[in-house]
Amino acid sequence: MAGRIPQTFIDELIARADIVEIVGSRVPLKKAGREYKACCPFHDEKTASFWVSPDKQFYHCFGCGAHGTALGFLMQFEQLPFPEAVEELAGRLGLEVPHEGGNAPAQRGQEELTDLLGRVAGFYQECLQSNPRARAYLQGRGLEGATLERFRIGYAPDAWNEVLRRFGATEAARKALQSTGLIIERETPRPGSEPFYDRFRDRIMFPIRDPRGRVLGFGGRVLDGGEPKYLNSPETELFHKGHELYGLHEIRLARTSLQRLLFVEGYMDVVRLHQAGVAYAAATLGTATTPEHLRRAFRLVSEVVFAFDGDRAGRAAAWRALQNALPEAREGRELRFLFLPDGEDPDSLVGREGRAAFEARLATALPLSEYLIAQLRDQADVSHADGRARFVALARPLLAKVPQGVYLELLRGRVAEEIGLNSERLRELLEDTSDPGYAAPAHDARGGADSPRGMNAERAARARRSGGSSGRRSILTQAIQLLLHFPAVAATLTPAACATLETISEQEIAGIGTLRELLAAMRAHPARSTAQWLEEWRERPEARRLGELFSEATLLDAAQARTELAGLVEGLIEQVRVGRGARRYDELLARVNARTASAAELQEFQQLLKDG
Ligand code: GTP
Ligand code: MN
Repeated sequence: MAGRIPQTFIDELIARADIVEIVGSRVPLKKAGREYKACCPFHDEKTASFWVSPDKQFYHCFGCGAHGTALGFLMQFEQLPFPEAVEELAGRLGLEVPHEGGNAPAQRGQEELTDLLGRVAGFYQECLQSNPRARAYLQGRGLEGATLERFRIGYAPDAWNEVLRRFGATEAARKALQSTGLIIERETPRPGSEPFYDRFRDRIMFPIRDPRGRVLGFGGRVLDGGEPKYLNSPETELFHKGHELYGLHEIRLARTSLQRLLFVEGYMDVVRLHQAGVAYAAATLGTATTPEHLRRAFRLVSEVVFAFDGDRAGRAAAWRALQNALPEAREGRELRFLFLPDGEDPDSLVGREGRAAFEARLATALPLSEYLIAQLRDQADVSHADGRARFVALARPLLAKVPQGVYLELLRGRVAEEIGLNSERLRELLEDTSDPGYAAPAHDARGGADSPRGMNAERAARARRSGGSSGRRSILTQAIQLLLHFPAVAATLTPAACATLETISEQEIAGIGTLRELLAAMRAHPARSTAQWLEEWRERPEARRLGELFSEATLLDAAQARTELAGLVEGLIEQVRVGRGARRYDELLARVNARTASAAELQEFQQLLKDG
């Protein structure tokens, strides 16, 4: 693996790239004031709601919510993973991408290996042409010539050293072949004979490619009932089964405007679906779906549908997929499960019914939440109390995997509904003590200390008012949004205010950590743009929410922003003070009632009453 790309380089890319040019070369843009607009390339629409701002170096669609930097646009539009988008953008700007650890030689080594694998794939393709038996097999499976070309499907000849002989002329070449897993060293070398032999013999060969088309490894299928049915390349420095998805390159080639990905189980399923026009199918490589697979998928689309065989193995695989999907479930992402009739797989179904009927099935796929509930219901009868307790016990470890946020709230609500409990009570049952984090607008709208007792209500109201005027949005959110629009203003906040913010806990104001972090970062690097910050924060759970806040317009100018920020922070501090006062009041009141208050506490209590 190449080392990390240094953040300073990403910064430089964002600073040098012109988002208007990047987007404009792919989508026809029209100037509108200081910005540019177009019909959104990410969803179907007739009127333009896609805006590109040269000032912010950011794009945003009011229709579908898509947003991001120049880099984000390349990822979304070209369906590239992050490092590839960086390569692309750097290439355009004539820059070479550095990698941490200075491992440029390793990177060159990798290029040599993918190059070698690509040549071997070409050799397998030639072998297919000259092998009537293999051609007949694929024809019998309904594959057309163009499909074989598109997927570079080939055939490994029935011999022990064809690849070795052609590609392993030198010692170095053999080392390379061995490190890709194409040849294997004999365990008991025979004197005078070759110490290596070809891994793949007499198999249909499916090259596994990265999104840009570089060959990383192979899957090889027997032509008859032999065992094992599939042989895959081993894990190598290039090839990580838990990351790669079969079909991503072909999805890119299809160039459809991608709305969703369909995860299927087999190579043949992917190939056949693409041939039928379902050009958004991908498969894991004989492993369970990992969270990493899903992260990759959700960088491209917001909807993933899993298709599983209807048999026992398929259902077991689906349940495993659900468990691995839970950590990646969140608002704005759709995860659904389709169960095929017993004895069918996507390959056989799409071959028989065609694309339209297959896609009609997709439309009926169960949302993750419904599939989860149905599974729990199978295992616990909610018509009596014991069953309901069991239901909660089964749900607990599953819900614990879902990140805090609106999605979790909804899921919890759904579980609660199922057992006739209100969701607050369920939350208590689940003993949810984890902190709510910033990512969740639902928490965030509530702020921290907003249930002040009678005597403090007015103070709290004052605190809220002093925070600004935009209705239901919390002070915290407003402050964060302001920083995103005016990062340089962070430096104008007084050290005293910063120090007070340090004392506020997540329990008092959920999400305060995000504000503090933004403030500290922006104070330390006042010249950095928000587009640059958002690239650095790309992988963090709050990134999406931050992007949304940045997408919204601001009516302030920099001078107003400065006073506004001071006011908002003052409001936050006041809000916390009120909350702390209310808690102290309750504490003292309890002592007074129990007649355990000291003289000093009595005095403090009276003072609080007077100030109230
Ligand atoms: P066909 O039988 O040709 O239709 O293949 P398929 O691609 O539909 O495969 P299947 O549904 O049987 O299996 C799904 C996936 O699991 C395959 O594409 C492979 O990635 C993997 N797989 C299946 N059998 C084996 C095996 O024997 N060994 C290994 N390592 N992987 C396998
Ligand atoms: Mn199959």
